Amino acid sequence: MKAVIRAQYGNLEVLQVTTLERPVPKKNEVLIRVKAAGLDYGQWHLMTGTPYAMRLATGLTKPKQRVLGTDVSGVVESVGREVTRFKVGDAVFGATSATFAEFTCAREDQLCLKPERLSFEQAAASAISGVTALIALRDVAKVKPGQSVCVIGAGGGVGSWAVQLARHFGADVTAVCSTSKVEFVRALGATSVIDYINTSLPTDGRFDAILDLAGNRPLTVLRKSLAPGGTLVLGGGEGGDRVFGGVGRTLRAALWSIFLEHRLVMLVGFVKPEPLRALADIVEQSSVTPAVDRTFLLDEAADAMRALESSQVRGKLVLRVAA
Ligand SMILES: NC(=O)c1ccc[n+]([C@@H]2O[C@H](COP(=O)([O-])OP(=O)(O)OC[C@H]3O[C@@H](n4cnc5c(N)ncnc54)[C@H](OP(=O)(O)O)[C@@H]3O)[C@@H](O)[C@H]2O)c1
Repeated sequence: MKAVIRAQYGNLEVLQVTTLERPVPKKNEVLIRVKAAGLDYGQWHLMTGTPYAMRLATGLTKPKQRVLGTDVSGVVESVGREVTRFKVGDAVFGATSATFAEFTCAREDQLCLKPERLSFEQAAASAISGVTALIALRDVAKVKPGQSVCVIGAGGGVGSWAVQLARHFGADVTAVCSTSKVEFVRALGATSVIDYINTSLPTDGRFDAILDLAGNRPLTVLRKSLAPGGTLVLGGGEGGDRVFGGVGRTLRAALWSIFLEHRLVMLVGFVKPEPLRALADIVEQSSVTPAVDRTFLLDEAADAMRALESSQVRGKLVLRVAA
């Protein structure tokens, strides 16, 4: 089967399209014929091996798992003998490893049936970004109807989900993005939009919750926008040093939070079975829809990664693996 690998950590030039043996599912896994695989900043970190601290898990000098990719959608090709939730031919989506390939394996609890109204490309843009946004809003900020929520980085992969989910939970949503994404986030349902190129964040403590996905504003600035008792969810950002990335900032914030009237919480958005099922239910029962900006062929993975690095993407990028 065809797959996108990198034998070492590095920049785009380490990506190779190659031929590998088809994987064999364990007894609690299914084999998926991959239709589409989502791209996100996690893949960029796995490609470059930065921040270095992550190599403790992914391989110190070279990647343990050569095939990239986490988000997936596809059709079940075969099932292990202990699998009960899926059968051959089911259309599924979720998050596993090695999804930039024509076939991959996943445990059954890492998958859900694909909502019928989503295309395979849309479904592949769902698990990582959708579950991250869901955990941030539902579990960490505990957003209630009528609350005021601010999403910083609203035009990106997680942000485009967060704007829609916060609206789905009945909140007023202020989306913060650059000028080129203003119309895009408005179309996602944002109640108001701040073009951060021309306008600063308000300092009147109006937001019950802020989800910061850009990670480059001082905490003192963000706290001026938060209502008393409000929650700042520190979701991401590509700044920080090469050893720990943005983790130092978020840990400092979490510690500082003990002494403050605001909750400052570091977001850990791992894809777990319950939020994945909850996300699938929301998508099935509402108009919340993953925003796919562009799709690329598997052979074009380096072009897709280059597009991700450009920061011009509205919503998500997806690799189309099979028709
Ligand atoms: N904690 C977790 O579990 C978790 C899970 C998933 C992702 N993440 C992290 O969350 C971050 C966002 O992920 P993503 O997939 O949404 O990335 P993305 O698709 O690249 O989106 C990031 C967005 O931030 C915007 N942005 C950049 N600078 C900004 C600024 N100063 N103010 C406001 N917006 C700004 C960018 O566009 P514009 O500048 O054009 O508006 C872009 O739309 C990444 O750092 C990722 O690693 C964390």
